[in-house]
Amino acid sequence: MAKKRVLSGIKATGRLHLGNYLGAIKGMLELQNSGEYETFYMVADMHTLTTPYNVDELRENRMQVVLDYLAAGLDPQKSVIFEQSDSLSGELSFYLSSVVTVARLSHLPTYKDKIKQFPENSSVALLNYPVLMAADILAYKAQSVPVGDDQLPHLEVTREIARKMNELYGLDFPEPEQFKTSGHYVPSLSGEGKMSKSVEGSYINLSDNLDEIKSKLAKVPTDSGQGAEIPQSGGVASLLTLVELFEGEDKRKYFEDLYKSSGVKYSDLKIELATAIFNSIKPLQERRSEFEANSDQVREIILEGGARAKSICRQTLNQVREAMGLFTK
Ligand code: ADP
Ligand code: TRP
Repeated sequence: MAKKRVLSGIKATGRLHLGNYLGAIKGMLELQNSGEYETFYMVADMHTLTTPYNVDELRENRMQVVLDYLAAGLDPQKSVIFEQSDSLSGELSFYLSSVVTVARLSHLPTYKDKIKQFPENSSVALLNYPVLMAADILAYKAQSVPVGDDQLPHLEVTREIARKMNELYGLDFPEPEQFKTSGHYVPSLSGEGKMSKSVEGSYINLSDNLDEIKSKLAKVPTDSGQGAEIPQSGGVASLLTLVELFEGEDKRKYFEDLYKSSGVKYSDLKIELATAIFNSIKPLQERRSEFEANSDQVREIILEGGARAKSICRQTLNQVREAMGLFTK
């Protein structure tokens, strides 16, 4: 039996942070290394066009995401690594857009947030964001999608589109599911919302050194360090989540017990946490410099990935065109 497929991607909007790593990349790695799936991992460069962007920065950021992927351990021998604009999902997204209403897309929380952030830029591309994402996934008939919780509304739209296409045109798209990691929701350092590159002061980058991590953690708002109830939101809750993710559940329990007894000294907790975070990303930083020094090899990897991705996209496009009554070869 053919292996099940996995697809994921990350927008090319800047350097990656711990949320991207724990929520998306760790899942991509786990599925890649299990050997049980055919894995497709792309740089979502076309999605970058959905909000205002700088052309030179996009050219640069596309490569940055590929380097972060390779540094994290995505392996071109095991996964197809490619750029979205070197695949054919753009064409598929047009066909899929015929089964989704404007109302469905304009009520999505992700869309509403972005038009609040960029009121001058409520473009058709932004509205179409989830349809392009659905096309990315359905082009490969992927069943599992390693992404963080913020992408769940888009997966729901993808499942609806798959069902509609199957019903109307007799196609066989699977309904994809999130592959959830332990870091599926990494909170912001500010204590409000999720860690995100678009919110200054919320994130730790995969490229940060120990001093940068220490100074970012130093700014996390805390309390007196003692009380009967462990805070469930705010800076302290974020710190405890990070302790659990980087130092383990027992360490979290240790600090929770201190909180309820003699009190937590946050300066100690933060220094220990900074060291644990740095130790876990240091190997990535070292591997990244090796790939940076081999840009020809990296270019070859994505060209080859693009060719493999396109050959699969083409098959799906042909089926869809045939089923929808369009030209086929
Ligand atoms: P950002 O919100 O920082 O711009 P992206 O939208 O580019 O991040 O997300 C890329 C991937 O990383 C997606 O799979 C997303 O779900 C995941 N991700 C982003 N932030 C977090 C977070 N704080 N916790 C868990 N996963 C996250
Ligand atoms: N929307 C994702 C992000 O914010 C990127 C993305 C585009 C994606 N297409 C996808 C993720 C398909 C998973 C599957 O980064």
